[in-house]
Amino acid sequence: MSSTHTDGTNTPTAFRELLPSPGGADVDLTAAYAYPEGLDRPWIRANMVASTDGGAVGPSGRSLELSSGPDRRVLGLLRGLCDVVLVGAATARAEGYGPVRARKAWTELRAGRTPTPAVAVVSRSLDLPEKLWKEAPGYARTLVFTTAESPVRRRRAVEEYADVVVVDGESVRPAHVVEALAERGLYRVLTEGGPHLLAEFVGAGLLDELCLTLSPLLLGPGAPRIVAGGPGAREVSAHAPAQSTPVRLAHLLEAQGSLFARYTRD
Ligand SMILES: NC(=O)c1ccc[n+]([C@@H]2O[C@H](COP(=O)([O-])OP(=O)(O)OC[C@H]3O[C@@H](n4cnc5c(N)ncnc54)[C@H](OP(=O)(O)O)[C@@H]3O)[C@@H](O)[C@H]2O)c1
Repeated sequence: MSSTHTDGTNTPTAFRELLPSPGGADVDLTAAYAYPEGLDRPWIRANMVASTDGGAVGPSGRSLELSSGPDRRVLGLLRGLCDVVLVGAATARAEGYGPVRARKAWTELRAGRTPTPAVAVVSRSLDLPEKLWKEAPGYARTLVFTTAESPVRRRRAVEEYADVVVVDGESVRPAHVVEALAERGLYRVLTEGGPHLLAEFVGAGLLDELCLTLSPLLLGPGAPRIVAGGPGAREVSAHAPAQSTPVRLAHLLEAQGSLFARYTRD
């Protein structure tokens, strides 16, 4: 039997709980992925998908091959739960981002909130898919983070439709993003990467949670990991990491051979 889920799909796939309570079948995903209650600051949750050997980009140059019905289901639910989707410009370009589309199944999930979350994008170049900044609804205008060095003409064009936050210096720091989201009351944050933006949040110690799908395929060498590069880390493979941040496994689920781990900062 098929039913519509809060992710907007009709996929009836059951998610099995492996941890913390092995054996739990047909997990309530909405409860499993609920944001902490009573937030008084932005909670930065990342959702990423990787191959079993740790690759984050498939042969298409996108994450398409890594995803699956159950992964899309989790992605849809996480979007339904959040106030804002935060993304790096390269991901917005590669994946052709537009504003988040409303889903009927989110009515209850988003009661008392806007029908869709806004999208926030970080970019120096402002080379962004036009639909992303032009076509967002008035209640969820796209938020663009850029630097004072971004091309002025492009910035003026984007400013007509989107909320543009311009920071001094050559880089938008994660702290800038968190501060601006806090000012707007956007506390339930979902970052969808990409690996470079995520590396900056990890490096700044500002990632609160990682939802990681491990897909049952091998990509071999060459594919970037879910965190890559970051400021001052061009030769990241030649150096040991600057820090390690302990995380706690909040749950581990399984569906159609994919593993869905949710880690929170310890
Ligand atoms: N496996 C997964 O879950 C997953 C998730 C997301 C993406 N991906 C894949 O990852 C690839 C893209 O990721 P990526 O790591 O290359 O790029 P990214 O992190 O999505 O975006 C990097 C871009 O964001 C902007 N940016 C990042 N930090 C900035 C800062 N501090 N200040 C100002 N602008 C900043 C710059 O944009 P400008 O270039 O515009 O200046 C930069 O080039 C794609 O292939 C995508 O399909 C995979």
